[in-house]
Order: sequence, then structure tokens, then C-alpha cells
Amino acid sequence: MEENKKRDGFGSKLGVIAAAAGSAIGLGNICRFPCELGENGGAAFLLVYLAVVTILGIPLMLSELVIGRRSQSNSVGAFKKLAPKSKWPIVGYVGVLCALLIFATYSVIAGWTLEYIYKAATNSFHGENLTLIEHEFSTFHNTGWLNVLLQAIFIFLTGFVVFKGVQNGIEKYSKILMPLLLVILIVLAIRSLTLPGAKEGLAFLFHPDFSKITGDTLVDAMGQGFFSLSLGMGALITYGSYVKKDDNLTSTAFSVMISDTLVAVLAGLVIFPAAFTFGVKPQAGMELVFDTLPMLFNQMAGGYWFCLIFFILLAIAGLTSTIALLEVVVAYLSEELHLSRKWATVIASAATLFIGIFASLSLKDGTPLTIAGLSFNDFLDFTTANIMLPLGGLLIVIFLGWRLGKTEFFDEVTNEGALKVPLKTAVFFIIRYLAPLAILVIFISGLVN
Ligand code: TRP
Repeated sequence: MEENKKRDGFGSKLGVIAAAAGSAIGLGNICRFPCELGENGGAAFLLVYLAVVTILGIPLMLSELVIGRRSQSNSVGAFKKLAPKSKWPIVGYVGVLCALLIFATYSVIAGWTLEYIYKAATNSFHGENLTLIEHEFSTFHNTGWLNVLLQAIFIFLTGFVVFKGVQNGIEKYSKILMPLLLVILIVLAIRSLTLPGAKEGLAFLFHPDFSKITGDTLVDAMGQGFFSLSLGMGALITYGSYVKKDDNLTSTAFSVMISDTLVAVLAGLVIFPAAFTFGVKPQAGMELVFDTLPMLFNQMAGGYWFCLIFFILLAIAGLTSTIALLEVVVAYLSEELHLSRKWATVIASAATLFIGIFASLSLKDGTPLTIAGLSFNDFLDFTTANIMLPLGGLLIVIFLGWRLGKTEFFDEVTNEGALKVPLKTAVFFIIRYLAPLAILVIFISGLVN
């Protein structure tokens, strides 16, 4: 019964793209990407990022979708089915753990978006200057338990949707809300590009200084790319298992990659011209979003509404991502441990909140919750994005290229021969040789650095 309900999966082609793009497009594009770009010197990072998502992102995404649809299983069950009596399911287990850890830190920032919806609705930025807005942000994100409460609300909302099932909630809303987010971002980018700092902002984004590319840039770009596309942890294995047998996996992967990258670049086009205009440093981290954007809205006609709609959409973009994160854990708990969907959701949400509380409280200034010189939150973020996702991605392409093999891959991407997929041989070559090598080299160069 449970099985049948899940295997109904996504209703339409567009629904699959909307849900997978919904998982990909999120705080990672609008908050994390500009931060990484700012810290890594701008345009040089953008170039490396684009190379990573094209050359490695698409093949890895396709690998995950193939593993998921072929096995019709959650991320652990998939390896059990396709490679019985082997150690491969460990990749799935690590992915489930990774989903929990990412959700724990992700929900901290997602909670902030709720506070900013409230601030926007009460028009509290109106007429404020940068100093005041900065002060508000730093006092707010230092409040501790208020953040935990907002985070708990966000986790609860996620749990509510996941418990209801994905097809009627998320698939339906993603189809409307994701395009709306895109439109708003385009309008904001246009406004931002007419500010006095536009030239500087554009130069920062598009004039690469190649001397800035180091091993770290590569590691960060790969970490960001995998994070942003929701790769390396079995999320798209899980979603892939809900895709109909006659859908085209290759074109799905391309659409998701293109829309995700578009949103990330657009976020950069909104944020950097504004940041240079108002004097927010590119290295400012989260302040780039939570200080610069309210300033931008203050300069716009209809700023009140743009501000409100923007933060609502940001929360929704976050929600379509956290749903996918939670779904990874819930699919595992319900299929492998035979828990009901309800209990699986409750347990996974409670575990997330437990870890999340430490992540949230570790962001207070002077916190004792640190590991290796980083706050617990940043430590989790770094370990998941820069270590677990690349390793997961590496093992997944090796699994597909060497264990599952060419014939099964071709069968699955061509829908047993019904579809023509012109580049399939090249993609398989990348999966088997180039991707493992590239991921390994980037990963090791990062460790050495
Ligand atoms: N891609 C999401 C974002 O950019 C974050 C994320 C990483 C994610 N891994 C995931 C979302 C797995 C869903 C599933 O915001």
C-alpha cells in the first residue's frame, strides 16, 4: 500500500522538473552562492563553478536519477537492490546522514527568512540606513532561542508537507512558485543594475582574476555546485525513484541544471551591484543578503511589496529544498525500517531539530560551540558540502560507471531504447573516467591546501 502510494510518484514531466528544480533551487542559490563567490574573489569563482556544474554536475545528476529510477527505491534500498550483498549501501547510509546534517544547518537560515517576512510585513526597514539594518541583523542572529523557535517552526512546516506526501503539495506549488521567484529576481536584477555600483558589481562578477584560482577555489566551487544541485547524497536517487518510466531523464537533468544556475547567477546580479553601491563588502557572508537586499528595497518604488514577496518566495524556495532533504530520510526510514510515514517524519524532524539547536546556538558571538576553530554550524556546513558531498558524488559515479555499467545506464536513459539520447556515450565516458578522476583530484588538492 505504502509502496504503491509512493510509486505513483510525480504526476507529470513538468512536475518532475519543478520538484527536482525545487529541491535544487533554494537558499543555496540566493544566500550561499553569493557568499562563496564573495569569499572566493568573484568572477574567477563563477567560471570554475560553471565548469563544475556542466562537466561534473550533469553526469552525476544523471547517475543519481538512473540509480533511483532503475531501483525504484530510497537511497539505501537502491544500492541493496542493484548491488546485493555488497558494501555499496554504505553510500546510501552516509547520504541519509548527510541529509540530516544539511537540514540541521539549512533550517537555521530558513528560520531567519521567517523573521524577515515579519520584518517586511511590518515595514520595519523603511527609511533605515545600512548601519541600522546591519545592527538589527547582528542583534537578531545573536538572539539564540528566538532563532531556535523559528527554526523549529520551519522544520515543522517541512514535516507537515512531507507527511502529506509530495505529489499533491510540492509538485503543484513548485510549478507556480518557482517561475514567480524567477520573475521577481529578474525585476530585482534590473533595479540593482541601474544603481551607481552596477559597474563595480558587474566587474566583480564577470572580470576574472585568474591568479585567484587556487585549490581552495576548486574545492569550494565543487562543494557549492554539488550542494546547489542537491547532488552527492542520494536526494536525486530518491526523487529519481518517483519519476515515471517514460520520462526523459537526460532532459530533466539539463533543465534542472540550467534553471538552478540561472537563479544563482541572477542572485549575483541582484546582490553585487547593490552591495557595491551601499558599501557592503563582498566577503560579508550572510550580511550580503540580509543587509544589502533591504537596502535595495528601500531604493525601489513599491519596495514594501517587493521586500515582502521576496522573503516569502525565499522561504518557499527553502521549503521545497528542505522537503527533499527530509524526504531522503523519511523514504529510508519508511521503506527500510518499515516505519509508518507519520513516525518516520516525526523521528526525522526531531533528530534534525536536536542537531539544529546546536547549529543555531553556535552562531552567537563568543559561542563555546566550536570545532576546529569553526562554529559548530560552519563546521557542519563545511564538512557536508566540501567533504561528504564530493565523496558521495565520487562513489556514486564509480558505482554507475564500474558496477552498474554501460548497458544498464543506456537502457535507463533511453527508456529501454524508446528515446534517442545523442550524447549518451560521451556522458558515460565522463561518468566512468573523467568525473571520478576530476572529483578525486579536486578533493585531494583541497586537502593538501
Ligand atoms: N540544493 C539546495 C539549495 O541549493 C540545498 C540542498 C543540498 C538540498 N542538498 C540537498 C536540497 C538535497 C534538497 C535535497 O538550497
